[in-house]
Amino acid sequence: MEQSELAAWREGWVKRLNEELSEAIKKPMADEPPEVGQLLSAMNYTLESGGKRLRALLVLAAAEAVGGQEQWALPGALAVEMIHAYSLIHDDLPALDNDDLRRGRPTCHLVYGEALAILAGDALQALAFETLASALLGDLAEPTSRVSQALLILAKAIGPLGMVGGQAMDLAFEGARPELTQIITMESKKTGFLMGSCLALGATLGGADQKTISAFESSGRLAGLAFQISDDQLNVTGDAQLMGKNVGTDAQKAKASVTTLISQEQASEQVSLYIKRAMSGLRPFNSPKLEWLIGSIFGRSS
Ligand code: FPP
Ligand code: MG
Repeated sequence: MEQSELAAWREGWVKRLNEELSEAIKKPMADEPPEVGQLLSAMNYTLESGGKRLRALLVLAAAEAVGGQEQWALPGALAVEMIHAYSLIHDDLPALDNDDLRRGRPTCHLVYGEALAILAGDALQALAFETLASALLGDLAEPTSRVSQALLILAKAIGPLGMVGGQAMDLAFEGARPELTQIITMESKKTGFLMGSCLALGATLGGADQKTISAFESSGRLAGLAFQISDDQLNVTGDAQLMGKNVGTDAQKAKASVTTLISQEQASEQVSLYIKRAMSGLRPFNSPKLEWLIGSIFGRSS
C-alpha cells in the first residue's frame, strides 16, 4: 500500500471516529438534566480534543488483518478511545501527575474542577464497556461469545494487573530508584497493556481464533512498551507545542523513567527493538496498516 493511501485511510477513519465519539456524548445530553449535561460536557472536553486516535486505528487495522471487516471492530475502537480519555483525565489530576496542559488545552480538572473531572473519568470508563457491549444489541449483532471475550480482554488490560496496576507502580516509584526491569514492567502495564488489548480486541471482533488473538495481544504490548519509552524520551527532548503537553515534568516530579537509567541513544535502540519484535509477531498476517501504525512509533514527535 502506498503511503498516501495509508494516510487517506487514517484521515477518513479519524473523521468518522471523531463523529461517532461526539455522538456517543451528545445523544444522551439532549434528554438529561443540566447537571448530568455538565458531566457529559466534561467527558466530551477531553474526548473531542483530538489526539492521534492511534489506539482506535490499531483496533480497526487488527480486525482487517484477520479477515474481518473494520466496521465490526468499530465499537471496540470507540471503547479504547474512551478508556484512553479517562486515563488521561485521571493521570492529569492533582493527586496524580498534576498537569495543566493536555492536547494543547488546559486539562479537564482546570476547566471543570477536580471533582467533576474524577467523575468524568469514571463515567468514560463505564461508557466504554457499555459501547462495546451494546454491539450485541445493535445492527452489528456480533455473536455473544465474541463480545463477552472482547469485554474480558479490555477489563483485564486496564485493571489492577494492567493499566491501573502500572499507574500504581508509577506512583510508588516517584522519588525512588527502581531497576530498569521494574521500570519496563511499569511501562508495559501502564501503556502496553491497553495497546495490547487494542490488537486483541480487533482480532476478536474480526473473528480470529484464540492463538491469533494471543499473538496480536503480545505484539500490541510490545508496541505499547515502545510507545511509552518514546514518551519518556519526548518528556526530555520533545517539543511541548507539537505534543500539546508539558515537557520536563518527569524530572520535576523525580519520576522513574527509562531515561533516568539509560541514554537517549540506548532508549532509541530499545524502542526500535520492541517495534521489531512487535512487527515480527504480526508478519504472518501481512498487514501494511498495522505495520505502518506500529512503525510510526519510532521517531515520533507527538
Ligand atoms: C499519551 O498517548 C498517553 C500515554 C503515553 C499513556 C500514559 C499512561 C497513562 C496516562 C495511564 C494512566 C492511567 C490511569 C488509571 C490514571 P498519546 O500520545 O497517544 O495521546 P493522544 O491520544 O493525545 O495522541
Ligand atoms: Mg502519569
